[in-house]
Amino acid sequence: MARLVIHLGVNIDHVATVRQARLGIEPDPVHASVLAELGGADGITVHLRADRRHIQERDVRLLAASVRGTLNLEMAVGEGVLDLARELRPQEACLVPEKREELTTEGGLRIRTSDQDLVTTIGVLQDQGTLVSLFIEPDEDTVRTAAELKADAIELHTGSWANAWHRAHKDGGAEAAACEHELRRLERAAAVAAELGIRLHAGHGITYHNVRDLLHLPLLCALNIGHSIVSRAVLVGIERAVRDMRNLISAGAA
Ligand code: PXP
Repeated sequence: MARLVIHLGVNIDHVATVRQARLGIEPDPVHASVLAELGGADGITVHLRADRRHIQERDVRLLAASVRGTLNLEMAVGEGVLDLARELRPQEACLVPEKREELTTEGGLRIRTSDQDLVTTIGVLQDQGTLVSLFIEPDEDTVRTAAELKADAIELHTGSWANAWHRAHKDGGAEAAACEHELRRLERAAAVAAELGIRLHAGHGITYHNVRDLLHLPLLCALNIGHSIVSRAVLVGIERAVRDMRNLISAGAA
């Protein structure tokens, strides 16, 4: 059977994190998105957080106008981002939990079919043609609840598996069993998603080292990867960046 081509969504939040460290204008995540798409990204993902610690509203507006593939806007329910999503109509929105004190999105969304804010947000986004995914823990009941909420997709939170993967590859032994356990959870959640006909995305903590171990998940159609790609970009680009500055200084001093 032919394998599905897995969509690569590149999360560029941390390009904005570097910019916000100086509250300046560089590096511009919009420039990064153009280069990411030239490099083969199928889409660009950004999280407009309530605390605006990295991506700003200006970025989302420019990305909505310039991304050629899919723009996936991550947003928390009830944090005032829905109005912007209604105005810009991104192709995808991923509903995520948000805590002000967290370093990154910790844990999946707690979903209940009785959550009226969630039901309304999903409906508003879908009515305007935005595909809605819910970022959830790899838990079979939670996948069923996502399907009852009529979400188009789930994004399985791969963070616990990724953490276990790194411990297992560093320490082996008992950690390998924990990694296997987390992988089985992802596989079972993916199987339920396939059975219910809900699209399967996955993301968080995926790296160049561990990505291969996820590719067998049944009907996996998208991966959202950020930190590892931005981290590698800093390293593979630094030699050229220093050489450019060296040349400018040398040319000026000559
Ligand atoms: N998917 C979601 C819903 C996220 O919140 C994040 C982190 O912003 C990612 C994917 C990407 O995670 P990472 O930066 O660890 O690759």
